[in-house]
Amino acid sequence: MDVYGLIGNPVGHSLSPPMHEAGYDALGIDAKYVTFEPPANEGAAAVAAADRLGVAGLNVTIPFKQDVLEAVETDDLAARIGAVNTIDLTGETPQGYNTDAVGAVRALDHHDVALDGTAVVVGAGGAGRAVAFGLADEGMAVEIANRTASKADDLAAEVPGAGGHGLDALGDLLSGADVLVNCTSVGMDEDATPVPAEALHADLAVLDAVYSPIETRLLRDAAAAGATTVDGAWMLLYQGVEAFERWTGESAPVDAMNEVLRAAL
Ligand code: ATR
Repeated sequence: MDVYGLIGNPVGHSLSPPMHEAGYDALGIDAKYVTFEPPANEGAAAVAAADRLGVAGLNVTIPFKQDVLEAVETDDLAARIGAVNTIDLTGETPQGYNTDAVGAVRALDHHDVALDGTAVVVGAGGAGRAVAFGLADEGMAVEIANRTASKADDLAAEVPGAGGHGLDALGDLLSGADVLVNCTSVGMDEDATPVPAEALHADLAVLDAVYSPIETRLLRDAAAAGATTVDGAWMLLYQGVEAFERWTGESAPVDAMNEVLRAAL
């Protein structure tokens, strides 16, 4: 039996175990997915320990996504993002990937959103970094807007062709944009949005990385404006799907994983 797991602190309410185990069940893979909660600052040690114990793969969440960099070899995308959320432990050296970026891309792709034109990324934290690099790699022109404009400028300086802005620029930015991704925590368990409703329009596709609630105020406003909406559970699903496929080498049973994930939300 293969053991996969998640390291984070806390991990108590993680939806990854039921989502991944639904995938193993659907494909008849003999595997288990468990959660580990090492103390803060022990992320790299936890990776080495899991490797020695024969764990096949790890997901990594807050606060360890940067800490584990020293314990793995990263691919180019994870190195540029500067954070790892998926580790393959089956080889000689642990290999680190960032499937958050690809998760956003595949969530949009699933909804037939064309990944060309201009994307506006709201937020310049960990999620914003991953999504900005992911969409730029797809060839989109990326504009980053953040409450703290200097952080958007700093991130934009690293992402090819990107621009950095404060939130006050959203109206102008969105008028010519094709895709909008909310990568802030605004809207999580609250009826709030970082984007003025009047800036939304029918030619936009709007992805909200927030998945609690599933229908955020941003997505409600976007639907009212006639935009295509993609909820945060799709991004959560596809970061997991991408990890599943890297680990097992199989095409993930996306529908089975999605069904269980949404039932658990
Ligand atoms: P994550 O890893 O989920 O991206 P993070 O790194 O803490 O989390 O980043 C949180 C993001 O949400 C940041 O872009 C933050 O803006 P600042 O850089 O200005 O702090 C944004 N954010 C959090 N609360 C916000 C609020 N009330 N209004 C606007 N942006 C907010």
